[in-house]
Amino acid sequence: MSDTARLQIGENSYEFPLVKGTENEVAINIKTLRTATNGVITIDPGYKNTGSCESAITFLDGEKGILRYRGYSIEELAEKADFLEVAFALIFGELPTKEQLEKFHKDIKSNSVVDDDIKKIVDAFPKSAHPMGILSSLTSALTAFNPSSVNVDSEEDMYNAIVKIMGKFPVLVAWTMRKKQGLPLNYGSKSLGYVENIMKMMFEQPNEDYEIDTVVKDALDKLLILHADHEQNCSTSTVRIAGSSHAGLFASLSAGISALWGPLHGGANQAVLEMLEAIKEDGGDTKKYMAKAKDKNDPFRLMGFGHRVYKNFDPRAKIIKVAADEVLNNLGIQDPILAIAKDLEQEALNDPYFVERKLYPNVDFYSGIIYRAMGIPVEMFTVMFALGRLPGWIAQWKEMRLNHEPIGRPRQIYIGENLRPFKSIENR
Ligand code: ACO
Repeated sequence: MSDTARLQIGENSYEFPLVKGTENEVAINIKTLRTATNGVITIDPGYKNTGSCESAITFLDGEKGILRYRGYSIEELAEKADFLEVAFALIFGELPTKEQLEKFHKDIKSNSVVDDDIKKIVDAFPKSAHPMGILSSLTSALTAFNPSSVNVDSEEDMYNAIVKIMGKFPVLVAWTMRKKQGLPLNYGSKSLGYVENIMKMMFEQPNEDYEIDTVVKDALDKLLILHADHEQNCSTSTVRIAGSSHAGLFASLSAGISALWGPLHGGANQAVLEMLEAIKEDGGDTKKYMAKAKDKNDPFRLMGFGHRVYKNFDPRAKIIKVAADEVLNNLGIQDPILAIAKDLEQEALNDPYFVERKLYPNVDFYSGIIYRAMGIPVEMFTVMFALGRLPGWIAQWKEMRLNHEPIGRPRQIYIGENLRPFKSIENR
């Protein structure tokens, strides 16, 4: 293949270099397009054909259903690693040695207390507030309590900011849920593992000792790993673009949390469960909802199906489906919702509408079923996604800053009115 692309506009021809990734992905580098062509730009709503950066963190091939963090397959990581190891690999590039992992965990633990005044902010939210709104606000508020800015060229500064947020974020997650449930805002224990500590903070009741259920712990570890990064998705791009203005790490993460909230992105896990509940309440007729999803006059979409990038099975959905079965079996839970989910999946996989459009179940199709079995309220599902995505967001923010990427500032094609004279209010 030639290493340039030629563009013809009218009589003029321009050449642009091709960029090739380590997995042979090819892009046309159009950095000089606007200058060379005297103002021509590209337009690509939804960025379906636009690469925003070069990144060494996550590789995914949507056609083949491949997902790898730092070169390791998601299947192997989900089976053999724990969440903290995966977080370290995503953020620092390599799986940690035993000593590195211990130090990372120790440093996180010494940062896992938040300023007590944050409780006042939590208290000020009405019970009706959505947990994602609370989480985004609290994450942003962390900046006010930790005002010193991070010198990104100092490895020590960068490391300290990372262990700080890895320590404090789970506290905010737990408090977000406990606020909704009217439970006291507690802390975890330094003697527990990272994920066990999260569980204790979330589920501990004021009048009993909390015992870790290893089945639930293993499933949560896996879910967090599966959600830990997914290259340049909506929330990650938001973190990178907010951070590209040199907004701090916590502020950039807060922007990412808001982006994740939407039902077309992280909010889909809540939407899936609400959809499955609605189908159950409506008599469990999955065919009726399949028909609604295919009807172009009906805005209903089968939540948890389809993906911008995966045009083959989402590899994470395969792992989660097995985990959902395991958790429900081990906890002895018979959930009619799981049966409805399996029926829908089978119907969709055999339906020409879904087959032609390559709409397969995505990561969120089964995650809600597991979260529900763990006793996590539906409104918290997207918060759990954010908890898992935290290391990915951090890794992407860090990479963007260390690469000294320019401020993200797309252009547009203006389609509004041309210059016109101002009309006084009497003449409008
Ligand atoms: N149900 C029914 N039809 C669908 C669905 C669905 N879930 N998803 C896509 N389609 C159809 C569209 O109507 C469109 O049909 P057309 O070609 O006849 O117009 C075609 O499939 C392509 O869909 P687009 O919306 O163009 O695909 P896009 O890549 O822009 O959207 C998205 C991807 C947003 C994920 C979409 O599939 C969707 O809305 N899914 C449901 C929400 C969801 O599960 N989101 C979670 C994504 S995973 C994540 O964020 C972790």
